[in-house]
Amino acid sequence: MKNADFEGVVDTSDEWIVQRTGIRQRHIASEGETTADLAEKAARAAMKDAGVTASDLDLIILATSTPNYTFPATAVEVQHRLGMKHGAAFDTQAVCSGFVFALTTADQFIRTGQARRILVIGAETFSRILDWTDRTTCVLFGDGAGAVIVEASEGVGSSDDRGVLTCHLRSDGAHREKLYVDGGPSTTQTVGCLRMEGKEVFRHAVGMITDVIEDAYAATGLGSDDLDWFVPHQANKRIIDASAKKLGIAPEKVVITVDIHGNTSAASIPLALAVASKDGRLKPGDLVLLEAMGGGFTWGSVLLRW
Ligand code: ACO
Repeated sequence: MKNADFEGVVDTSDEWIVQRTGIRQRHIASEGETTADLAEKAARAAMKDAGVTASDLDLIILATSTPNYTFPATAVEVQHRLGMKHGAAFDTQAVCSGFVFALTTADQFIRTGQARRILVIGAETFSRILDWTDRTTCVLFGDGAGAVIVEASEGVGSSDDRGVLTCHLRSDGAHREKLYVDGGPSTTQTVGCLRMEGKEVFRHAVGMITDVIEDAYAATGLGSDDLDWFVPHQANKRIIDASAKKLGIAPEKVVITVDIHGNTSAASIPLALAVASKDGRLKPGDLVLLEAMGGGFTWGSVLLRW
């Protein structure tokens, strides 16, 4: 769906959307297409790319705020579709930080030896929870899914090791009202629509993002100059640019996909990784910094070697 396709839907313009957000288009799931459908496609693509089958996996973690059903977890549906009868599958919910929370969880399972190979998916159909009469939100979001496979391997314990080097998660429920969905099983018994005070989210975003990135630098002794790629959550190009500038990350190291995907919440980072991996930018051994901030508020960073 291009910006121009909003003509006749809400009072907006391509110029306003591009200028304020960097978004030019977003994808909308077709009628009847669900989060599990998108997640399954991303999962199969990641498994093919990694050369693994369902029997090689022992855990699936799926980050989403737009599950197929209130329960069971969408991850369990994906597990079934992949023909996986062993192991376990569960969802995580941290809105736009969902993938960072899921990857951090996967890292803990790997480090403690509880799992050796994990499928981590970010999948969303935000189009289903948008108020399509509210121009301040409906132009911002899109649907999509991305996935990665995380595998245990022995390293030497230095920042030259490949894999996840450090993870830093934060949340603060005091900001709940600034970005939330106004429905739920225990309150309204409805699904609800996304509500956002965009200016307020923007005001907090850069500070929160840079805080957790500085935590990652402090934990590893690495810094912006050491990065090969910065793959941030794709909410708004202005937030990404301001964060990169504050941290001294060179613009050519920033992977931007918000222009083609819009904000796909938990799916945005794995989608951006897929784009940068496919076009040859991401290479084995590259130092990659992920970050996200979203509803809750939740925020976090993951520093990894690809
Ligand atoms: N088209 C045209 N005009 C619009 C639109 C639109 N789609 N939306 C709002 N406007 C108008 C407003 O009504 C306002 O008009 P007014 O001055 O007459 O009142 C004017 O544009 C400016 O609105 P602002 O809200 O001040 O615009 P701002 O520059 O702050 O940009 C935006 C809005 C893009 C939402 C920005 O605040 C933002 O990106 N915030 C962060 C959002 C975000 O990242 N959310 C995702 C977090 S992740 C998650 O967990 C889901």
